[in-house]
Amino acid sequence: MNKLYLVIGASGRLGRSLMSLLGEQALGVGMSNTSPTLDITDWQAVRRLLEEVRPQVVIHAAAWTDVDGCARDPQRARLINGIGTQHVAAASARVGAELVYISTNEVFDGQAQQPYGEYAPCAPINPYGYSKWLGEQGVRAVQPRHYIVRTAWLFAHGGKNFIQAILGAAQAGKPLRVVIDEIANPTYNDDLAAAILRLIPTGRYGTFHLVNEGAVSRYGFARYVLDQVGHNQTPITPISRQEWPRPSTPPPYAALENAAAASLGVTLRPWQQAVNAFLHAEGLLRDEETA
Ligand SMILES: NC(=O)c1ccc[n+]([C@@H]2O[C@H](COP(=O)([O-])OP(=O)(O)OC[C@H]3O[C@@H](n4cnc5c(N)ncnc54)[C@H](OP(=O)(O)O)[C@@H]3O)[C@@H](O)[C@H]2O)c1
Repeated sequence: MNKLYLVIGASGRLGRSLMSLLGEQALGVGMSNTSPTLDITDWQAVRRLLEEVRPQVVIHAAAWTDVDGCARDPQRARLINGIGTQHVAAASARVGAELVYISTNEVFDGQAQQPYGEYAPCAPINPYGYSKWLGEQGVRAVQPRHYIVRTAWLFAHGGKNFIQAILGAAQAGKPLRVVIDEIANPTYNDDLAAAILRLIPTGRYGTFHLVNEGAVSRYGFARYVLDQVGHNQTPITPISRQEWPRPSTPPPYAALENAAAASLGVTLRPWQQAVNAFLHAEGLLRDEETA
């Protein structure tokens, strides 16, 4: 018999990819654009929904992902990403479901010289990272049957993302200034969703880093995207993080190493191949140019 999945955050970027892979095996819920809706900050609502649905697996991909918004309102960030996640963890444990919680590379301080392994110490330096780390702690405290999956720099079809912002600015002929001293792993939502669904049947609970292979600066990421779509002559000015002030402080070097899932055979392709696949699906690359 197929497992029943509950995807929380189903209309978000990752949630949409998960829902399309899971099809009728999944019920998707979120703050809006889903039926029923669910606000994870409401404990009674979370408990009731899980008791009604009785899923075998809960994939919790809901979050307040506006990192600058979280910096302006840390209390709200803690409520949604921290306490809301504790509600999901407790309710999933009550109904005997497994839980996949999606976390972030921003739980690290960004001072490392090499990619962070799964058990490197967490030391978030901004309210978004702190709130997601609270969520991780809530999961570990009450839900032993968990997969905590950290990821980074997601790009997805539809909605806003870094690739679309860079392409939009280049097409509009706007001058491009991109930060060079912030490094992580660009990750294609569709690859992440598929990897999560490969991880679950392993039954090996714990903390995992699922990102496309390899790391790059935001500047290098932007340069790669423009070169692929024929904007080789479009200049980009590399700037430092200090020259791009924003409410949140991103960790400078927050690349992740996938060691744990790789040991179970779950790996993701290099980020350049993933970007090419994304651009191809958007109709921006010809077939022979995909990696
Ligand atoms: N995007 C990235 O670059 C990135 C990087 C690392 C980790 N992550 C993590 O990956 C996961 C998925 O990210 P994403 O980019 O797919 O996020 P997203 O597109 O911003 O979607 C987040 C979803 O969460 C829902 N949500 C927000 N508050 C909620 C609440 N109180 N109750 C129930 N649902 C709520 C939203 O519903 P509405 O649409 O109805 O508001 C939305 O569907 C998140 O856990 C995020 O922290 C993301």
